[in-house]
Amino acid sequence: MEMIICKKLMELNKEKRIPFHMPGHKRKLSAQDIIQMDITEIRGYDNLHHPEGMILESMEQLKEFYGTQKSWYLINGSTVGILASVSAVCQPGDEIIMARNCHKSVYNAARLLHLNPVYLYPEYSEEYDMFLDIREKQKEEIKILLEKHSKIKAVVIISPTYEGVVSDVAGIKEILAPYGIPLIVDEAHGAHFAFSGDFPESAVSCGADLVIQSIHKTLPCVTQTALLHLCSELVPADRIEEMLSIYETSSPSYLLLASAEYGICYTQEHPDRMQEYVDNLKKFRRKCAKLKHISLFTPEENQVYDYDIGKLVFLTKSSNLSGAELFRFLLDRFHIECEMETAFYCIAMTSINDTAESFERLEEAIFAIDEELECVPRMDTEDPETTKGVLFSQKPVQCRPVWEVKNGEKKRIPLEESMDEIAADYIYLYPPGIPVLVPGEKITKEIVANIKYYLYNGYNVPALSEGTIEVSCSGDPLEES
Ligand SMILES: Cc1ncc(COP(=O)(O)O)c(C=O)c1O
Repeated sequence: MEMIICKKLMELNKEKRIPFHMPGHKRKLSAQDIIQMDITEIRGYDNLHHPEGMILESMEQLKEFYGTQKSWYLINGSTVGILASVSAVCQPGDEIIMARNCHKSVYNAARLLHLNPVYLYPEYSEEYDMFLDIREKQKEEIKILLEKHSKIKAVVIISPTYEGVVSDVAGIKEILAPYGIPLIVDEAHGAHFAFSGDFPESAVSCGADLVIQSIHKTLPCVTQTALLHLCSELVPADRIEEMLSIYETSSPSYLLLASAEYGICYTQEHPDRMQEYVDNLKKFRRKCAKLKHISLFTPEENQVYDYDIGKLVFLTKSSNLSGAELFRFLLDRFHIECEMETAFYCIAMTSINDTAESFERLEEAIFAIDEELECVPRMDTEDPETTKGVLFSQKPVQCRPVWEVKNGEKKRIPLEESMDEIAADYIYLYPPGIPVLVPGEKITKEIVANIKYYLYNGYNVPALSEGTIEVSCSGDPLEES
């Protein structure tokens, strides 16, 4: 056997790419002595699943710092925190209100538990094909859904979104409070909020009952590290622990635990570094106002409830570039690797470990590309049979619950022939992992055209195989909602 993965990763270091993507440590952690920390539950070193010693002590500090009822380190990412949270509050057959832009882990929880999701569509920007925040209109919808559906046991939303858009968590909780229904907030992208007043307030202090944060995304922590916060007495802690013991590995890595604790301590102990980072962000944003064609997504223009300035979302709509082309230009010509790209934008993810020099390099690159834009020929990405950005302007019709379709008979058919069929698999781009089509939803002409657009433009759509899509074999839908 050859060392293929190791070799490739070691070569990456020599390339000197600037990482404007997760993990938030930006490869600036010292590898020295790391192997020394890779132990198992030896005597005196506690156990994440039954913490009584040093892990308990460290988690007590978390609880104090975040002001929660209880906080847990997670070493299988936010994914395990989301699965455990939903499982702790729902029983099979229950209903759940979930934002349609939730990460696939929420959909998987609903599938595993045989839940019947009622989707809430946050504000959607057709211009950028991007979900925004949950506004008054959607809050009114939550009130109506709560009156109409008696089996709702939880509400799950995502705030901030991948693009940094924050919703009014306190306002949503106010609606749920009289019903005693817990609010679960996927704050995977907001682990840094607690460390500076220049970021939005964390859902932890806005009344959410359960909050999940991927500390590996925006704090200097290793991939897969995350936190789960229990912020109220609405959910019993032992129920969460029971679910964590089911979903989380029975061999939790001490390396990851150490990295989680280190990243949080480091960020807390370096307010000067945090301030420098925030100043760099503000300076960068001010400079970007002078761009001629590319622009940064701003909360003011899009009237969102709140916004994470740490997310640099470069909009390319008024230029002759697509987000994907901008991503490639940054990488190929300037050795800058962004986090993700779509047809309309490209996201650079930042953290406390980004230096003034990295921001300067990004600025130089963006301005150089912006300057050239008029003379860069537009790549032919248009095909008359494809359509982009129409997906959520028409809400897909949900005909069957996910679990029912996934457990039933399925077949593969060409995408071209799938109109009016019921989808049996998720169709999503990763990142961001938000399904554009969920099992149980009806496939429309617009959805087919949009998927074709993704394929035509070279995006990897994981569920498609040789132009075929999985559909349900069951006859007519039982019920359309
Ligand atoms: C919004 C959101 N929630 C949850 C997750 C899952 O987080 P993790 O990768 O830490 O399991 C992701 C991952 O990208 C995400 O973007």
